[in-house]
Amino acid sequence: MSKKEEILSVLKQHPEEFISGEKLSEMFQVSRTAIWKHINTLRKEGYEIDSVTNKGYFLKTNPNRIDEDRLRPLVSYFSYLEEADSTNHVCKRLWEEGKPDFSLVIAEEQTKGKGRMGREWIAPKGSGLFMSFLFRPDMMTEQVTFITLTTGLCVANAIQKITGLDTKIKWPNDVIINGKKVCGILAELSGELGRVDYVVVGIGININLKKEDLAEELKQKATSLLIERGEEVDRTSLAEQVILEMKQKMDFRKNFDKDAILKEYREKCVTLHKEVKVITPWESFFGKAVDIGENGNLVIEKADGTKREVMAGDVSVRGMEGYL
Ligand code: BTN
Repeated sequence: MSKKEEILSVLKQHPEEFISGEKLSEMFQVSRTAIWKHINTLRKEGYEIDSVTNKGYFLKTNPNRIDEDRLRPLVSYFSYLEEADSTNHVCKRLWEEGKPDFSLVIAEEQTKGKGRMGREWIAPKGSGLFMSFLFRPDMMTEQVTFITLTTGLCVANAIQKITGLDTKIKWPNDVIINGKKVCGILAELSGELGRVDYVVVGIGININLKKEDLAEELKQKATSLLIERGEEVDRTSLAEQVILEMKQKMDFRKNFDKDAILKEYREKCVTLHKEVKVITPWESFFGKAVDIGENGNLVIEKADGTKREVMAGDVSVRGMEGYL
């Protein structure tokens, strides 16, 4: 732990209580000016710390900040950043550094957030939960689609448990509330045919976004937990629940119960048994989604009765407003 982190940890142990600069400087064997500099850095990172002459420093509890100390023990390695280009990129760097399976990165803000199909993922600072897991799974490349489905299920369950809102999944892994997208998942992998080096699974959840923060073209399609629930959601509790669900369901080596996951997924998937429009990087076509295959592929029956399996792509479900 750096000096700054140690100071933060002492303040956290005494929330809403004054700790004098003198006491901190004695504890850490640095000057009071050095303490003051560390406090200012913490303020820039978003911690609300008051200072009163002759009394000292006072940490105001901020329910919207991620509480690192609560999350760190739940994963193999944890990195919490004020800013990242993309948490998926940071995770890939962690893999290069040899960090273990089930490492996690969370950032308050992303400058180059990535979405599926080469799109951008733009979200204001602190408005959401931007997290990426690093997996070093012992599995074949063909099985990786299944990881993304499982992640969708984990996030949908976590949101439902923490907020009480009813969640659904649009294949492959958009989490939906009241017909609108609240979370996107981007899985990226490196390996060769038949062997996976790593899988990075990035999750972006819209949490405290207000309706007016959403771009006009997104208002029909996207939502946030704040909009749906009418009150703010504690981001640490939600992150904690996502980690717990992932820990339980993504244990590839021991308890990976594929059949149970598929059954649960099919029940939550809004795409199944609907008329859909499929857009892949190569083609687009219409049909009816009739099943989720063993590897997580979406099975589409076209009007002429032929069946097609889709592994990746955008699938819009036909609704009252056209295809959403
Ligand atoms: C989508 O297009 O629906 C997927 C969006 C995934 C966004 C998340 S935010 C955390 C992680 N880091 C990224 O750059 N992207 C994912």
